[in-house]
Amino acid sequence: MKTLLTEDQLKQGIVQLAEKIQAHYQGKPLTIVGVMIGSVVLLADLIRLLKIPLRVELVQARSDHNGTRPGPMVINTDLISGNIQGRDVLLIDDIFDTGHTLWELIPQIDELGPSSIRTAVLLRKIGQCKLDLKPDFICFDIPNAFVVGYGLDYLDLYRNLRYIAVLEPSDMKDKK
Ligand code: IMP
Ligand code: MG
Repeated sequence: MKTLLTEDQLKQGIVQLAEKIQAHYQGKPLTIVGVMIGSVVLLADLIRLLKIPLRVELVQARSDHNGTRPGPMVINTDLISGNIQGRDVLLIDDIFDTGHTLWELIPQIDELGPSSIRTAVLLRKIGQCKLDLKPDFICFDIPNAFVVGYGLDYLDLYRNLRYIAVLEPSDMKDKK
């Protein structure tokens, strides 16, 4: 495994992300919606840097993939327990790759009647998205490699790494 972003680089990037988000949502009724499971580490760090009133909700987006190749997407917005009608929603995800997750999620959130929906991601893989969609807040642009750590997984492993690493073929064997 090869480190792509160190713990310090992540910290600095997330401080800057928080500053931008804070400036944008000052005085607005903000609900941050984390996309499980990958966003939970970013979510926990980000909300503690924001010095504005906010609510937190979670949704689940899961594509039943075997490791690095995604399958059909399953989205569950039933976990949203509060009312987001008339509120400004910021969707938080770990990584923007093809964009399909946010592309499918945004209309479903929209049905709940928020006054705005924006998106923030820790990572964006360059050149992978063929859809007319761009995250509003992006922490880091990265090359097209499969990465793990800081919430991102391979077969549900490595989410607990404090840094982002590129997974190599030797890391993909015999994982329990
Ligand atoms: P998208 O729908 O193609 O934009 O992909 C977004 C989702 O795919 C993310 O929320 C991740 O769960 C997963 N994903 C995409 N690329 C990676 C990766 O390099 N490592 C781990 N998960 C990834
Ligand atoms: Mg995900």
